[in-house]
Amino acid sequence: MDCMYARKGGKLEKLLSVENLTVKFGKFQAVQEVNFELHSGEIVGLVGESGSGKSTLGRAVLGLTPFQSGSVKFLGQSLGKLSRKVFLKLRPAMQMVFQNPMGSLDPHQSVGSAIMEVLRVVKHATDEEAFSRMKCGLEEVGLDSGLAHRYPHELSGGQRQRVAIARALAVEPRLLIADEPTSALDGSAQAHILDLLRGLVRNRRIGLLLITHDLSVVKLVADRAGVMHRGRIIETGSVEKIWSAPSHAYTQRLLAAVPQWRR
Ligand SMILES: Nc1ncnc2c1ncn2[C@@H]1O[C@H](COP(=O)(O)OP(=O)(O)O)[C@@H](O)[C@H]1O
Ligand SMILES: [Mg+2]
Repeated sequence: MDCMYARKGGKLEKLLSVENLTVKFGKFQAVQEVNFELHSGEIVGLVGESGSGKSTLGRAVLGLTPFQSGSVKFLGQSLGKLSRKVFLKLRPAMQMVFQNPMGSLDPHQSVGSAIMEVLRVVKHATDEEAFSRMKCGLEEVGLDSGLAHRYPHELSGGQRQRVAIARALAVEPRLLIADEPTSALDGSAQAHILDLLRGLVRNRRIGLLLITHDLSVVKLVADRAGVMHRGRIIETGSVEKIWSAPSHAYTQRLLAAVPQWRR
């Protein structure tokens, strides 16, 4: 069986453009006037302490949380203005990876059949195609395809997160939003998942919005970053710049929260 992972060449294009996005829960503004762009082949880190509005922003981009003003454009189309039908067609091109893959994987379904189900339902693959693509998909995320018959609880946390990533990739997304994808993992599993994500972004030329409270995670993998504080992006720039010369006192606090050995 030949697995073709890498999508050769392919121009880098603007995937996501978020303008003046505001999300309110009642009177409380969880996200305030946020602006950023994300291109294919690029990793943008969104970092901030717990409660700063990162997940809400990610969910609003995916259409999971309604927003009150501003716009989200995906591949040039304004998501708020699409008909339900067009939105549902575009929606699979954006996939999400969560902190806890146990929450999104069915405990009673083997991981192989979870991935095959997506391939059959979303990609209309035949059983045979789904089977071979599922095996390739597991290998692409660094798992032995022999693990396909296992159930989620029979895998390590890192392996489960790899399965969740493989399932997201099975849909062939252009954009991946990963919300604290490594926060539940120990140090070495964390580094391996981040390496994996970086490799996937480069090979597949997808865009990745990496949400984390941990500035050292952003430093390891992101190309650019935005620092979020109380619903606003208060600082943006290259990761090197934010790391070595943070302009905000808040960013300096995030940096100070990174353990010495990770700096
Ligand atoms: N569905 C909701 N209803 C009301 N408030 C919410 C809801 N979701 C999030 N919030 C509030 O919005 C703020 C930002 O939350 P969140 O986006 O989860 O932050 P982060 O992901 O940065 O930890 C928090 O104060 C949180 O309590
Ligand atoms: Mg969150």
